[in-house]
Amino acid sequence: MSAPMVIAIDGPAASGKGTLAKRLAEHYGLPHLDTGLLYRAVARSMLDAGLSLDDESAAARAAASLIADKLADPRLRERAMGEAASRISAVPAVRSALLAWQQRFAANAVGAVLDGRDIGTVVCPHARVKLFITASAEERARRRHRELTLRGEETIFAAILADIEARDARDASRATAPLRAAEDATVLDTTELDPDEAFAAAKQVVDGARAH
Ligand code: CDP
Ligand code: CDP
Repeated sequence: MSAPMVIAIDGPAASGKGTLAKRLAEHYGLPHLDTGLLYRAVARSMLDAGLSLDDESAAARAAASLIADKLADPRLRERAMGEAASRISAVPAVRSALLAWQQRFAANAVGAVLDGRDIGTVVCPHARVKLFITASAEERARRRHRELTLRGEETIFAAILADIEARDARDASRATAPLRAAEDATVLDTTELDPDEAFAAAKQVVDGARAH
């Protein structure tokens, strides 16, 4: 049997990593985990319990007791939850509680596709393929704005752009597992690419790795 195909996909908010991860998983017949959902679910469960997002020990407890069926909640996709997730994701005890979960998922016999911020650097440092997906902040804000509008959430472009810039800064500057490309990652700038073109470019990288 060939070695498991673990594909690690990282990048900033609305870079298209989730869309790409889903398509790669379908194409190669691999399970997919959107790891941002774990952080969103921890934040959601704290807010539902009336807890402050600044309470680090409550955040650690919420992460340790997270159960899989919480991940299907459609409210996790709301704009405010990205921000809330980013806040609690800087707590080291939250990250370590979610690390084991993600690594169990990645240990699947055939392999897996995981997307997030620290997959290539921390969760799966030995992944066969590492992609770092990026795009300009303006283009990412346009994508997120379009998406939220289609979903019926009323939003202002300038507010989304400010949101994305603040989140990039927080995610890249935290002490534990900051957002950054692994040294051996292939960086894919999708500012000028549509989802099909991004998929074609990523597929080339994966097929290249499979041939070795
Ligand atoms: O889809 P979007 O990029 O807007 O957000 P997400 O991937 O759902 O992640 C929400 C937040 O969770 C991010 O801003 C990060 O702070 C955090 N996160 C993380 O720290 N590590 C991951 N592997 C995934 C998400
Ligand atoms: O997971 P992440 O937050 O990085 O982004 P996403 O949830 O995949 O959302 C990206 C949005 O931009 C989706 O609406 C895609 O249709 C669109 N898009 C893309 O994913 N890739 C491109 N190259 C261009 C647009």
